[in-house]
Amino acid sequence: MKTSDKPVILKLGGSVITDKGADDGVVREAELLRIAREVSGYGGKMIVVHGAGSFGHTYAKKYGLDRQFDLEGSVVTHESVKKLAAMVVGALNGFGIRAVAVHPMGCTVCKNGRIESMYLENIKLMLEKGFVPVLHGDVVMDSELGTCILSGDQIVPYLAKELGVTRLGLGSAEDGVLNREGKPVPVITPGTFEEFKGCIGASGSTDVTGGMLGKVRELLELSKTSCITSYIFNAGKADNVHRFLHGDPIGTRISPDKGN
Ligand SMILES: Nc1ncnc2c1ncn2[C@@H]1O[C@H](COP(=O)(O)OP(=O)(O)O)[C@@H](O)[C@H]1O
Ligand SMILES: [Mg+2]
Repeated sequence: MKTSDKPVILKLGGSVITDKGADDGVVREAELLRIAREVSGYGGKMIVVHGAGSFGHTYAKKYGLDRQFDLEGSVVTHESVKKLAAMVVGALNGFGIRAVAVHPMGCTVCKNGRIESMYLENIKLMLEKGFVPVLHGDVVMDSELGTCILSGDQIVPYLAKELGVTRLGLGSAEDGVLNREGKPVPVITPGTFEEFKGCIGASGSTDVTGGMLGKVRELLELSKTSCITSYIFNAGKADNVHRFLHGDPIGTRISPDKGN
C-alpha cells in the first residue's frame, strides 16, 4: 500500500454519540447524524471505531464485568453495544458511506484484558474494496478471565499498528487533553507525559475503561513503538471530525517526540 492508501482511523467516543448519563442505552441521534455527514465528505479509506457509551458501560458496571465473569451480563452487554453499532452503521450508510459492523466479540481474544489476537483478514479486504469497517468497544473472550471489556481506545492503536495506519484520532467530548487551567495541551510525548499526568484522570461519567488517562496511555505506548501521530479532539463540536479527516492538526497531538 502507498502511504496515501493507508486508512485513517477515527474513534467516536461514547460520550459524544450517546447520553452517558443515562441508565440505559440512549443514542444522541442529532450528533450521530451530524458526524455521519462530516465523515461522508472524506473520500479516503477509513476505519471507524466507536465507544460503548451508555449502551455498554452501564451494563458492564451493573454486572461487574470489569471485575468478574458473568455469562448473562456478557450477553446483555454485547447485545446492547451491537444495537449501538447498528445505529452507527445505519447513520453512515444513510450518508452514502458503505459501512459494515465488525463486532470484536466475534474476532478477538484477549489475555488479562489486553488483545492477544484479532482476525484482520476480513478488515483488510473490506478496506481494499471500499467498505468502511466499524468496530466498537465490546465484551470479548479472555483466555485468563473468561471475558473482559475491550475498550475502543485499545482497539484503535492495535489496528493502527497491525495495519500500518499513519493517522488516527480519538474524538471525545473535550477539546483535547486539558491542563490544570482547562486548556488543551497542544502536544504530549513520552518525554513530557510526567508533566501533565497529574491533571489527567478517569471519565467524569460511567466508563469502566480508563477515561482520558486510558486514552493517553494507549496512545503513548503506540508512539513508543511506531511513528504514528495521534490526536485527541472534541468530536462534539461541529466540523472537527471533518477537520481531523482532512489532515488539520486538532486538539492534543500525541507524538513520539516534539518535532513530529
Ligand atoms: N485532563 C483531562 N482532559 C480531558 N478530559 C479529562 C481529563 N481528565 C479526565 N477527563 C475526563 O475524561 C473524559 C473522557 O473520557 P471518556 O468519558 O472515557 O470519553 P469517551 O466516551 O470518549 O471514551 C472527559 O470527558 C473528562 O470527564
Ligand atoms: Mg471511554
